[in-house]
Amino acid sequence: MSNPPQENKLRIIIAPDPVLKAVAQPITTIDDKLRKFMDDMLSTMYESRGVGLAAPQVGVSQRIIVIDPVREDGAAPQPMQMINPEIIWRSEEPNVFEEGCLSLPDFYAEIERPASVRVKYTDPQNQGHELLAEGFLATVLQHEIDHINGILILDHLSKLRRDTAIRKFKKLKKEEEVL
Ligand code: NI
Repeated sequence: MSNPPQENKLRIIIAPDPVLKAVAQPITTIDDKLRKFMDDMLSTMYESRGVGLAAPQVGVSQRIIVIDPVREDGAAPQPMQMINPEIIWRSEEPNVFEEGCLSLPDFYAEIERPASVRVKYTDPQNQGHELLAEGFLATVLQHEIDHINGILILDHLSKLRRDTAIRKFKKLKKEEEVL
């Protein structure tokens, strides 16, 4: 007999969905229930092989993100859990990465963003932090903070490309309902 799993897998919301377009609410109380939810978010992210996950993506409109920018197989994980993250500085210099999103299955797009950002956040132990991020980490942070502001990578693209992608996801969701 194996032990019951410590964490619950959460259901990831696929676009289009109103919860992905909403501006999420700030967290005012950090307690065990919230910490458990953030652990569930992290395990859901790892199981889905993502590098970041924001609470709206699991249907919870709150300002919480989890990330782990380490992508190499076998490398030590670097999980981060952030409450009320906020970008307080952006570099002038841009950077382009190909981005995907767990709410947009099999969709990838090159997105230009500031190359470095400074992010202020609170950790699950209620400690405040500031982090200067560059490279892939800066992109992941901006992508996830976009999510809690109701912004998807689709919103960084042309209207034509966005509309085409949304039609594809609507069709995908309809097919899932039928099954
Ligand atoms: Ni995403």
